[in-house]
Amino acid sequence: MIDEKLIIYKTKKIFTPTSSAKFTFVEREGKLNNHFVDALNTPGKQIVLYGHSGCGKTTLLTNKISQTYENSYTTRCMEGMTFESIILDGFDQLSGLYNENSSSKTFKIAPELNISYADIKATIKLGDYTKQKTETTKHILPPQLTPQRLAKFYGASNSCWILEDFHKIKGSDRTKTSQLMKVFMDMSEEYEDLKIIALGAVGTARQVIEYDREMNNRVAEIFIPYMKPDEIERIIDTGEELLNLIFSKEVKSKIIKYSCGLPSICHQLCLNICFNKKIYETVKTKVSINLDDLDEAISKLVEEKSDTLKAEFDKAIKVGNGTKINMPKVILENCLEINKDEFSHSEIFNQINKSQINEANFSKFLTELCSPTRSEILIYDENSNLYRFNNLFLKAYAYLRLKEEIVKNENAELENKNLKEANIIKKLLDIIENDIYNKLEDDEDYFVIEDI
Ligand SMILES: Nc1ncnc2c1ncn2[C@@H]1O[C@H](COP(=O)(O)OP(=O)(O)OP(=O)(O)O)[C@@H](O)[C@H]1O
Ligand SMILES: [Mg+2]
Repeated sequence: MIDEKLIIYKTKKIFTPTSSAKFTFVEREGKLNNHFVDALNTPGKQIVLYGHSGCGKTTLLTNKISQTYENSYTTRCMEGMTFESIILDGFDQLSGLYNENSSSKTFKIAPELNISYADIKATIKLGDYTKQKTETTKHILPPQLTPQRLAKFYGASNSCWILEDFHKIKGSDRTKTSQLMKVFMDMSEEYEDLKIIALGAVGTARQVIEYDREMNNRVAEIFIPYMKPDEIERIIDTGEELLNLIFSKEVKSKIIKYSCGLPSICHQLCLNICFNKKIYETVKTKVSINLDDLDEAISKLVEEKSDTLKAEFDKAIKVGNGTKINMPKVILENCLEINKDEFSHSEIFNQINKSQINEANFSKFLTELCSPTRSEILIYDENSNLYRFNNLFLKAYAYLRLKEEIVKNENAELENKNLKEANIIKKLLDIIENDIYNKLEDDEDYFVIEDI
């Protein structure tokens, strides 16, 4: 093969577990991609992107939006944020575009809009405003800062407004924020590219448009699913090419399995591998990556993740003091006992000792376990009507903890804390390995088991 001129990339720009992928960006499957791009280019169409955490909402948006919009601004919705604070944030984001000099730069913004922006800005004391963003109390907006006016500012500067984590806004503030979308929609007669894109958790798309039926066909609700194995594989393929590495076939298939459709895990494992091998940028001569490298990367990931896993699991099984039966815990225990990858509502229900529970209560908690309030520890798949664990790490951790509870009384004081943590990591790895190997056995495509 001809050795073309090697372009040097920084590893941290190639494998990006905590930020949007750019160089390794994988186009999402055709239908989803087209639906999204069409909606982006349809005047007046508002967009809701929703899906499980980490499946690629922000990345898809970041990679596509620049093709349509000159500017996009993101308001990150936080728990307790009010409608007024959202408007204020949206307004403040534009301040770089609307200043005395801006019309002479990239944009031709009508002078009266510039003046009107400056006027409103002057009435908002910045010091107070920064505080307002995080406080839950109601605030009064400057009377000139109406949703219509804000839409004008966005429209005139060909900017798109992104609301991240829309589901975190609650109650009447959410209704009002939905109405804001309606205002943007209506004003698209005047500014055809005016658009709000809301990003939310799975199961929350309806919340955006529930208040007004008229919005139904003017809002594109787009579900971003987990990545398919071949999409995850393409991340590795692109990364290895750009960094001049060779991942063995076994390593690739294991990374795909470990990732469980979550691109962030794939990026993290690849990054760990590179950093362990001190590969910080494209290497001049090809470097091979084998199973030992992967093992090290996995240990590191589990170690780093163990605190998060604990927090996520604790959140999933949290119940009020004095609750007689910890329903979430009972459900999880039984899901594990079914000993399958996926299970149905009735399979779990039948598995549980009926005297303990009533079905309505069971269903309520099962749904909760699939929501962010309980760390989305379970995933519900609408197509197959089945449930499964969010990812192998969380599943293995749940297994460990629920097992541990049972033997806890006998050896509670035996282990010192550090030892215990080291044990947890080791056990976690063992469980995950088992799970992977079991799965690999039924899967011809990735049949890579060595003799053990
Ligand atoms: N299409 C893609 N190609 C390559 N990598 C991707 C792709 N989509 C997402 N990723 C990677 O996956 C990780 C999570 O992606 P992202 O932050 O976009 O997910 P998200 O759905 O917005 O998550 P959250 O709900 O937590 O905001 C990031 O590391 C990102 O680099
Ligand atoms: Mg995101």
